[in-house]
Amino acid sequence: METQRMVVISNRLPIVLAQQSKGSWTIESGSGGLVTALSPVLRDQNGLWIGWPGTNAEDLPPRARLQELLSQGTRETGYALKPVNLTHEEIQNYYYGFSNEILWPLFHDLFSQCNFDPAYWKTYQDVNRKFAQAVVEHTTESDYIWVHDYHLILLGGELKKAGVERKTGYFLHVPFPPLDIFLKLPWRFEILDALLEYDLVGFQTVRDRRNFIGCVRSLLGYRVTGRGQINSIQTHDREVLVGAFPISIDYKEFASCAMKQEVAETAWIIHANLPGRQLILGVDRLDYTKGIPHRLLAFELALARYPEMRGKVTLVQVVVPSRRDVPEYEKLKQEIEQLVGEINGRFTQVGWTPIQYIFRSLSRNELVAYYRTCEIALITPLKDGMNLVAKEYCASKVENNGVLILSEFAGAASQLYQNVLLVNPYDRQGVARAIHQAFTMSQEERKERMTRLRRTIQRNNIYSWVKEFLRAWIYKDLSESNSEELFVPSPE
Ligand code: UDP
Ligand code: G6P
Repeated sequence: METQRMVVISNRLPIVLAQQSKGSWTIESGSGGLVTALSPVLRDQNGLWIGWPGTNAEDLPPRARLQELLSQGTRETGYALKPVNLTHEEIQNYYYGFSNEILWPLFHDLFSQCNFDPAYWKTYQDVNRKFAQAVVEHTTESDYIWVHDYHLILLGGELKKAGVERKTGYFLHVPFPPLDIFLKLPWRFEILDALLEYDLVGFQTVRDRRNFIGCVRSLLGYRVTGRGQINSIQTHDREVLVGAFPISIDYKEFASCAMKQEVAETAWIIHANLPGRQLILGVDRLDYTKGIPHRLLAFELALARYPEMRGKVTLVQVVVPSRRDVPEYEKLKQEIEQLVGEINGRFTQVGWTPIQYIFRSLSRNELVAYYRTCEIALITPLKDGMNLVAKEYCASKVENNGVLILSEFAGAASQLYQNVLLVNPYDRQGVARAIHQAFTMSQEERKERMTRLRRTIQRNNIYSWVKEFLRAWIYKDLSESNSEELFVPSPE
């Protein structure tokens, strides 16, 4: 009998190819939570990760050198890596176009930002077919094929069109919109049908799952049964399972990183430069879903309304460059920089500048040092699948002394709402009030809230997320008591 393997497919491979100088390439392993969580599973199961190496096919190193780099990646990660090479045009139409100018804004309820260019749809189909071809080539019928995120919705259906049988699971990392928003998508039937080609479809929250089921019922009329964590959808020829599995972080890794001497020293330096002040932290990719301009205006209002805060708080706003070829992102950068300039221009006094703005990616140690030392985190996305920064901030608060202000529209709110200051990011006055409430909160209350938040995240960590998803998926397939022994990730 062939051995069963776990095969993960995502838009990006879990490694980053970087060109140091012309012709000189290096490979680094990716650092996200997904990589951390899935790597032990893939290592244990002699697994495979299929994805785009992040560079245009035209600019990649020569074939032999690319092979060398991927072999090095395999030695470092402990599992095989198979690249799907994409041309410049494919990246423009599939990644920047259909994925990030249509699905990304639509699924975040921002359909007025969508550019429904029909040319994008064709390339999205072609590239999903290309990924499916890689799956056909490198996997067997006994493998488990786990597809991730909105870039690859059509992959499961493309496998079937190619006439191959595979066990397939799919997880959507972004929200799923309600019916009245989803209806705007010109390819709404194709996308919905494609999701129903998987055996198990996972969402971040119960709300996302409910939205999806609402669309399936209204547009396709299928029967949905089951309550609790898993629903079953009966299509005309098969059963599809649907569940909510809130993703998380490697809690222990963040907590122990925060305890490192080097991180504690950096944290001390950050505060030593800003003595006697509470630091409010914002950390986001440059993205209009993150609500950065709304947040800056709320901070400005807080300074205007509560003058006792002037000179005593600094907002440290980290913005990580992202998706540079999408025009909306460039406009947003200008808008943020103008607002930062205006607010600093209005309030700066001798020895105090209200906003410290950082536009770059931070190293893990630097990021955790900010998490550890900032008294308040201000996380106010207009809509977010989960928002891992919120969880990472709490995990890094090893002294239980921070306050988390969190948007009710972040997936993380569904788990953390009881112990955060919950805000509507569109309500400028409400956010300004929450900033003031956090600023004046007693040490006892901070400690009580943060202790409970950390307990919740520690319990619901990234390893339990993998376990829950695999249990729902593999249980369906085996319905034997040994289902739990398959693919269980290494202990935390
Ligand atoms: N992050 C990073 N470099 C930075 C700042 C943040 O790699 O300079 C990471 C952060 O640790 C988190 C991720 O970026 O894991 C952001 O995830 P989140 O779910 O908050 O938002 P996304 O960017 O996926 O929309
Ligand atoms: C979100 C998406 C991920 C994506 C990440 C970074 O978290 O859900 O799929 O990888 O953003 O975006 P990028 O476009 O740089 O991959």
